[in-house]
Amino acid sequence: MKKVFIRTFGCQMNEYDSERMLALLKGEYIPCQEPKEADLILVNTCSVRKKAEEKVYGLVGRLKHLKKVRPELIIGVCGCVAQQEGERLLKRLPHVDLVLGPQAVYRLREALAKISRGEGPLVDINFQKDFRQPLIFPELDGDRPVKAFVTIMQGCDNFCAYCVVPYTRGREVSRPPEDILAEVECLVKQGVREVTLLGQNVNSYGRKERGFPSFAELLREVASISGLWRVRFTTSHPKDLDENLMRCFAEVPEVCEHLHLPVQAGSNRILKRMHRRYTREEYLSKVEKLRKFCPEIALTTDIIVGFPGETEEDFKETLRLLEEVRFDEIFSFKYSDRPLARSTNFEDKIPEEEKARRLAKVHEIQERITREINESYLGKVVEVLVEGKSPGNPELWTGRTRTNHVVNFSGPENLKGKLVHVLIEGCGLHSLRGRITNN
Ligand code: SAH
Ligand code: SF4
Ligand code: F3S
Repeated sequence: MKKVFIRTFGCQMNEYDSERMLALLKGEYIPCQEPKEADLILVNTCSVRKKAEEKVYGLVGRLKHLKKVRPELIIGVCGCVAQQEGERLLKRLPHVDLVLGPQAVYRLREALAKISRGEGPLVDINFQKDFRQPLIFPELDGDRPVKAFVTIMQGCDNFCAYCVVPYTRGREVSRPPEDILAEVECLVKQGVREVTLLGQNVNSYGRKERGFPSFAELLREVASISGLWRVRFTTSHPKDLDENLMRCFAEVPEVCEHLHLPVQAGSNRILKRMHRRYTREEYLSKVEKLRKFCPEIALTTDIIVGFPGETEEDFKETLRLLEEVRFDEIFSFKYSDRPLARSTNFEDKIPEEEKARRLAKVHEIQERITREINESYLGKVVEVLVEGKSPGNPELWTGRTRTNHVVNFSGPENLKGKLVHVLIEGCGLHSLRGRITNN
């Protein structure tokens, strides 16, 4: 059997695609841990920020010496940098054999067959018209995971001014509901208890396809699959978050009380320049409504600091919004110019040092809020789905609360895959600690 080494950058959709590629290769390749052992190396790339893209060039560049020693080694670059660069990537990295865009990863076997017939190097960055890839049912072996991702749509139609994703992932296409349900059922049969439905903007699921359910309807159908205990989803665009979806948090027991709702900025002027199509007030009123339906819901968000033209006053509006909403956790980034993204041509760019200062300020404020929220768990008993032993301490088990907080805790053997109750006795910035209780 030949060996494949795969390295994944970027978002959960890339992780999902990497798993699918491994599933496609099954029977011919087995995964290995070191590039130097591999017959096939796949790098699944992200281009959302410049730094992510640079990492790819660094890593793939360093593989050149392996190819010198073993010319039969096949090196493939997949994902968003592959889509963005296409043929240019082969010019810059001539030792690469294969360039596959995110919607072409399902054609990996055909591509490899062509390369072995001597038809490489090969570039496939064609988009699909629909999302009817061959169903590749994941066969989970060995140490079976308790949770899994399921992609329900590809691409994005929103064209936020800073973002490369609509160019790398193409137009929004929703996956047929029967395929999604079949995949989740297959995962559940193999012991998966929690799924996260993935898309760049899941709230607009099915809007373009005739006869498809809405996202809220799909969510209810997925949640009704017997043996599935928890359902999550990401990402939601605030402009498309409606009452039907909010109701699911209150009415569907399997839907976990956590929502990732990227706000990006707190100032209306900047939101407008970002082409986000909601105002600060609209965002806040959706949060308020959501909390009426589900008071215990945990919220997380993404923030960009230093978008072109962001003044000190605009930035302070972002800080005020953090205080007002009190997110459980945030992911914050310095604005980065991306090829094709509209804001790359905007004037009044913010200097690097200023972006760094703003980012540090955001971190400082959010750290305090996250600590305060984590401390509010002390003395409480929470439901945890046990994922396995804690990577940092094999004496402890690890899992997540319904609100998506990591909990490390002590307890008896054989807890993996079980739902347990844990008394919270301590907390850090990134996790809670506790011990299993009998109630
Ligand atoms: N579809 C999702 C996620 C997109 S990428 C959404 O709409 O939220 C994940 C995050 O990366 C974004 O939410 C944004 O905060 C950040 N991001 C995207 N482009 C960026 C850029 N050019 N510079 C800095 N951060 C960026
Ligand atoms: Fe990018 Fe905006 Fe689409 Fe998210 S919604 S992927 S930020 S264009
Ligand atoms: Fe990155 Fe592409 Fe995901 S740019 S964040 S891997 S959609």
